[in-house]
Amino acid sequence: MNPQEIRRRQYLAAMGIPVWESRTPSVATQVSSPQTANAGGPTESPMPPAPSPGTPGPVSAMGWEDLEQVVRTCRRCGLHSTRTQTVFGTGSRRARWLFVGEAPGAEEDRQGEPFVGRAGQLLNAMLLAMGFKREDVYIANVLKCRPPNNRDPQAEEVLQCEPYLLRQIELIDPGVIVALGRHAAHSLLKTEMALGKLRGQRLSYHGTPMVVTYHPAYLLRNPVDKRKVWDDLCLARDVLESQ
Ligand code: URA
Repeated sequence: MNPQEIRRRQYLAAMGIPVWESRTPSVATQVSSPQTANAGGPTESPMPPAPSPGTPGPVSAMGWEDLEQVVRTCRRCGLHSTRTQTVFGTGSRRARWLFVGEAPGAEEDRQGEPFVGRAGQLLNAMLLAMGFKREDVYIANVLKCRPPNNRDPQAEEVLQCEPYLLRQIELIDPGVIVALGRHAAHSLLKTEMALGKLRGQRLSYHGTPMVVTYHPAYLLRNPVDKRKVWDDLCLARDVLESQ
């Protein structure tokens, strides 16, 4: 058994969840070329035409470089005035799995990367338990800037920021989105339905299959629900493998 596998089993034991043997070598990352990688996804070209230099055009047509630059300097909502920096997203741009949280916290705001605080460490453990490294999947948030004092995201902030996430999803074309927590689920699905009711369902976000689960920060407070998250991740895997 290689060291990575030993570590995965140690994490599994620590989380109180059974070993998951993946049926394919890696379901987290696409292995084929970008042109052929998105079987089952939209049939149109995955990449937009390159914009002319200096004029990035609409967000919905941007490539990664322009999108990153526009997010970095975004002033669409008031959060730009309190952020240290924007938190764009991290991981494989060809990932099959996309994890979407609510918004950066204090540590993420400091480091410029999503899920690097305590909740992020638990997310890493969950990923490892599934056989993935953090860089195999893509991790982003609904909001790219930290709401002050970790307050809940406001509807106007979600409205202004969502086109960035939508474009990231179009560019990645993941097989499944896992919405982490109530706020991410409500923002994306435009519903107020209780998380407990949204769990366990095959949902969809702009045509991409989506599954909802508890936020890692919630799990830190309610470790007894780790088992439910494991069930949700198994559902997400089934959704992905059934495509
Ligand atoms: N919580 C989130 O929803 N996102 C992060 O990036 C960190 C904590």
